[in-house]
Amino acid sequence: MKQQLEAIRAAAKAAINEAQNEQVIEALRVQYLGKKGELTAILKQMGGLSPEERPIMGQLVNEAKQALETKIAEKKKAMAAKAAEEKLKAETIDVTLPGKASKPGHLHPLTGVTNDMIDIFRSMGFDVVDGPEVETDHYNFECLNVPADHPARDMQDTFYLAENLLLRTQTSAAQIRTMETRKPPIRVVCPGRVFRADEVDATHSPVFHQMEGLVVDKGITMCDLKGVLEQFAHEIYGPETKVKFRPSFFPFTEPSVEVDVTCSECGGKGCRVCKGSGWIEILGAGMVHPNVLRSCGIDPDVYSGFAFGIGLDRITTTRYKISDIRLLFENDKRFLEQF
Ligand code: PHE
Repeated sequence: MKQQLEAIRAAAKAAINEAQNEQVIEALRVQYLGKKGELTAILKQMGGLSPEERPIMGQLVNEAKQALETKIAEKKKAMAAKAAEEKLKAETIDVTLPGKASKPGHLHPLTGVTNDMIDIFRSMGFDVVDGPEVETDHYNFECLNVPADHPARDMQDTFYLAENLLLRTQTSAAQIRTMETRKPPIRVVCPGRVFRADEVDATHSPVFHQMEGLVVDKGITMCDLKGVLEQFAHEIYGPETKVKFRPSFFPFTEPSVEVDVTCSECGGKGCRVCKGSGWIEILGAGMVHPNVLRSCGIDPDVYSGFAFGIGLDRITTTRYKISDIRLLFENDKRFLEQF
């Protein structure tokens, strides 16, 4: 029986040494140490031994059992270590590989143009002010010399939120808020989003952008307006750009003008962009109406002023030769990445 035990122990040891993977080890454990295993079978034969032999044999079997258990544990550990090492080897990082470049972001063209314009007006002494997008009828219309039932309300299709609450249709509302809180001399611009119930097409969007300008002081004339707008146009489109005033109407300015600049695409010769005219309309402007000054507590006999409202989307599309205003709002990365 002792020889049998030795033989089993030797065979098991050899087999464990040979084993190449965990499954084989597990199979060997069952084969030798399992309930129906070979060592267990020997233990079961012990009943036939004499009382003197039994403890000796029992000890030997137990020893063999423990030795095999240790052996299996060690082998498993060694295999796990080897597997971990191989995995690490396979995962080594090649530090000489070129890295993945991360593209830096940049400003949306509309934001870029707005910032440039702010810089231009700041250099001429203007402050930047902000106004709310949700406005009251009072600021958006009433104080701008557009009382209820005034036909000029038809010029701008308005999104009403409640009886006297609306999405501002023009940044001109900021004129009133400014004159209520500041005393002349006033020189401000107010960039921002405005809203009108327009159908979407290549040149219209229910949400678009304006920059309002307001100057109020003693002795301000139309010449000052023209000088400021010429300076602005030269900086945005280049020094050869010409500026033209066309008579127009706005309820809050008198006289009122619409302002055209020579087409930046054709230089004024006439092309598809300017529809052959050589000119592009970029803003509305005029001398602040005495009623507006008065409604803000400024004496029109002492002070005068001019105001303008520049279409920021228009400036952006003409500056970058963008054919469709919708591209500015769709946020297609293929489009935006070009700037
Ligand atoms: N608010 C006018 C518009 O949206 C533009 C404008 C501003 C005209 C200031 C005159 C003076 O059409």
